[in-house]
Amino acid sequence: MSDRETEKRLAAEAAVALVEEGMAIGLGTGSTAAYAIRKLGERVKSGLAVRALPTSAQTADLAREVGIPLIGFDRVTSLDMTLDGADEIDPALNLIKGGGGALFREKIVAAASRRLIIFADSSKRVDTLGRFPLPLEVNPFGWQVAAEQVRALGAQVSLRSRDGTLFTTDNQGYILDCLFDTIEDPAALERKLKAIVGIVETGLFVGMAEMACVAVGETVHEILPAN
Ligand code: A5P
Repeated sequence: MSDRETEKRLAAEAAVALVEEGMAIGLGTGSTAAYAIRKLGERVKSGLAVRALPTSAQTADLAREVGIPLIGFDRVTSLDMTLDGADEIDPALNLIKGGGGALFREKIVAAASRRLIIFADSSKRVDTLGRFPLPLEVNPFGWQVAAEQVRALGAQVSLRSRDGTLFTTDNQGYILDCLFDTIEDPAALERKLKAIVGIVETGLFVGMAEMACVAVGETVHEILPAN
């Protein structure tokens, strides 16, 4: 396992250690989240009773495979804790998410959770968000209009495709990857983006994370938001 993969696994496992008996848990999406899901599956096999709400079809499939009981918003509208990865984490624990395209469901699940715990390898920590292109989920009809308005905010915008095929989300949306370089005021940018018609959700998670478990080598740091 590479150093990066070891960090992902250790950070994810530290977050899973916070899960307690009886909790309703939101389960994030991505390669780091996969470590958390597998670890939670081990704990369930050892007798831990939890229910989990997945943020993507990919996460639902893996959770089923490892035996984690799943629930939906038809059963619960609030969750005890959500465990999720991130693409960038700033000192205030503002995040860029959505590299895997699951940002819309991830944000709904995070918003429904009393606690959002993020886990990541050391490469995800940044002083200022924005080097990672910010993913935005947009409605397929008229996405070009939204893209133009995001360009006017100073971003280089590209419509996401994978292997030459247009990428569509679990909600049949498109993703715009928007390179800002630096996002000095994530809250202000979030307000501007949310005012653009056609943007379904943004990958900016501002003031939502309670703690980040970040592995540096073999040590996991539990980071709280800096003021
Ligand atoms: C999924 O849409 C994302 O928000 C992921 O949580 C984020 O991209 C981190 O993914 P990795 O753990 O694969 O880096």
